[in-house]
Amino acid sequence: MSNKPLEGIKIIDFTHVQAGPACTQMLAWFGADVIKVERPGSGDVTRSQLRDIPGVDALYFTMLNSNKRSLTLDTKSESGKEILTKLIKESDVLVENFGPGALDRMGFTWEHIHTLNPGMIVASVKGFSDGHHYEDLKVYENVAQCAGGAASTTGFDDGPPTISAAALGDSNTGMHLAIGILTALRGRDKTGQGQKVAVSMQDAVLNLCRVKMRDQQRLDRVGYLEEYPQYPHGKFDDYVPRGGNAGGGGQPGWVLKCKGWETDANAYIYFTIQGHAWAPICRAIGKDEWIDDPAYMTAGARQDKIMDIFATIEIWLADKTKFEAVDILRKFDIPCAPVMTMKELLNDESLRASGTIAEVDHKERGKYFTVGSPIKFSETTVEITGSPLLGEHTDEVLESLGYTSQQIAGFHDQKVV
Ligand code: COA
Repeated sequence: MSNKPLEGIKIIDFTHVQAGPACTQMLAWFGADVIKVERPGSGDVTRSQLRDIPGVDALYFTMLNSNKRSLTLDTKSESGKEILTKLIKESDVLVENFGPGALDRMGFTWEHIHTLNPGMIVASVKGFSDGHHYEDLKVYENVAQCAGGAASTTGFDDGPPTISAAALGDSNTGMHLAIGILTALRGRDKTGQGQKVAVSMQDAVLNLCRVKMRDQQRLDRVGYLEEYPQYPHGKFDDYVPRGGNAGGGGQPGWVLKCKGWETDANAYIYFTIQGHAWAPICRAIGKDEWIDDPAYMTAGARQDKIMDIFATIEIWLADKTKFEAVDILRKFDIPCAPVMTMKELLNDESLRASGTIAEVDHKERGKYFTVGSPIKFSETTVEITGSPLLGEHTDEVLESLGYTSQQIAGFHDQKVV
């Protein structure tokens, strides 16, 4: 059995920036042959954005395009359209995240592609879904976080709407699209027919903000949200407020200061007060007298003094680093973690060992680190290879489509777009 379950699936990767590339990269990791189609001359804009080595593909590109092949093609020229047509006829999936209507303007509408290859799955990321009143808008990550409800509910009550560093709009949408593509491939196994798969960034963000939509309906009904820091001493309007660092479920939690917080911006842990773990928490922090005290022993009784309880835990934490604190608290079964920096994660032995932080070799850059597959399999080993240079595989792809070396030489003379 192949160790790469998606081997044999050929994907035309018409994606750029982050949302689409994150999707196709993951499919490439799992064995699909992903051919990234790029503009001659420049390619994906991220090749040159935020470069750390002059003239070398930026990490922005290399970390989102590993395991792929690169084909340069001016898909607005006649020869480019001809090559793309041939490619469509023998591929399984086309993935794109152009601005609205760009693929249609190129002449490759869904209807046309479906006629060329009825089994083809066409997968798209757009900012908003088809028919949405904003469907014509171009969208980037932070725009999507605002449109999908994440920004209005992130941050602190006295601050502005806040963007998360996690790519809720980009990579998250790509992950949704990957699920859609795999579902459509399974559907095609049964019917022989391809279909259109679309994920909007707004929808993908909102899907991750499901609990905030839950909270809106609770707020509409009862007028307050007891797990938010605004309760019971603050005030609620008629929309879900920013909840600071409060836990999003029924277990109160907060980010707490540890030893060294005055000088180290990340000397903090996240601490969760699980209702049924109240006694171990009291024992861990040396407040045994709280275990049976009616003023503290139930979640309801603790609610109005939850911030005072966190302040007491911070006193206990004052002489412990975030790592020392977690090493104590883990023995008491308390859900907690140190606030990890990128630097600490990059050097984390467990993440290195599991392949979540992977070292990759690149032809021009040399060795660099990337985030490897977060999905682990019992039988499939995910090997991460370097990203392709611009047009590195143009000749071999054209050869496989039946073009002669003379014709291929002619394509190299095509204009840079
Ligand atoms: N050959 C010839 N033309 C090419 C080409 C190629 N290989 N690849 C792209 N193009 C053309 C497109 O056809 C389009 O032409 P047109 O607008 O004249 O029809 C043009 O390049 C620009 O494409 P577009 O995707 O609109 O680029 P942009 O830089 O203006 O916008 C985004 C970038 C990300 C805002 C936009 O693509 C978008 O909104 N995408 C959907 C949402 C998304 O994925 N956003 C997040 C990205 S992380």
